Amino acid sequence: MDRRPLVAGNWKMYKTSGEAAVLVQKLEDYASGWRDIDVVVCPPFVDLKAVSTVIELDEVRIALGAQNVYWEEEGAFTGEVAPRMLVELGVTYCIVGHSERREYFGETDAGVNKKVHALLAHDITPIMCCGESLETREAGDTDAFVREQVRKGLDGITAEQAGRIVIAYEPIWAIGTGRTPTPEMANDVCRSIRATVGAMFGQPAAIQTRILYGGSVKAENARVFFGEPDIDGALVGGASLDPEGFSRIAEAAIG
Ligand code: 13P
Repeated sequence: MDRRPLVAGNWKMYKTSGEAAVLVQKLEDYASGWRDIDVVVCPPFVDLKAVSTVIELDEVRIALGAQNVYWEEEGAFTGEVAPRMLVELGVTYCIVGHSERREYFGETDAGVNKKVHALLAHDITPIMCCGESLETREAGDTDAFVREQVRKGLDGITAEQAGRIVIAYEPIWAIGTGRTPTPEMANDVCRSIRATVGAMFGQPAAIQTRILYGGSVKAENARVFFGEPDIDGALVGGASLDPEGFSRIAEAAIG
């Protein structure tokens, strides 16, 4: 497979900037063996500067990601952060549409789509999250639900842009629960996501788009997910806060 594996750590609302600097420094100790893979850490906004200061000294083995963004260029939007503010800090990836933001902060597919456009306009790679609730899974509606999220989230972008974005399939019932789909189940949804990208933007874009699995990924189970043909890496929550465990996940993605 030609797609370069990507392992992203979503630090969620953990770590002060001092703690974040220590964590990424520890991660650096493992990074020298990482070849032919993209590894990204996504700390809270207020930690980005501290983390960028640590990683800018390396040969960009670890990339910097944000967990959210607002779509406007600038303006009276109290509490929000614009793409160009992220660019200045060296951010090259940004998570959008995480299920926690959809659930607790009212994010909609339309808002996710605006964020995707804003990020692409600033050459930041969106990591667009999608995934079904347990209720949707049990009703047998997973495929239709996830396809719809992808269609709406990517609406109006170009085929060239579609090839550059990252999609993370994160079943809500697997996040932070220790429960995971089987690798085959996860791959089925990822394949369906790829088919949706293909239907919207053509086969070349579908072949390029990287699709991650997320939800209770650990060093112990990562390898089996990475063995699946349509899974190109992982979006890792809890286990990304442990440098040794996270580095083992990155190594599993290398092969
Ligand atoms: P866990 O790895 O803690 O299940 O979290 C997954 C996640 O939400 C990553 O964005």
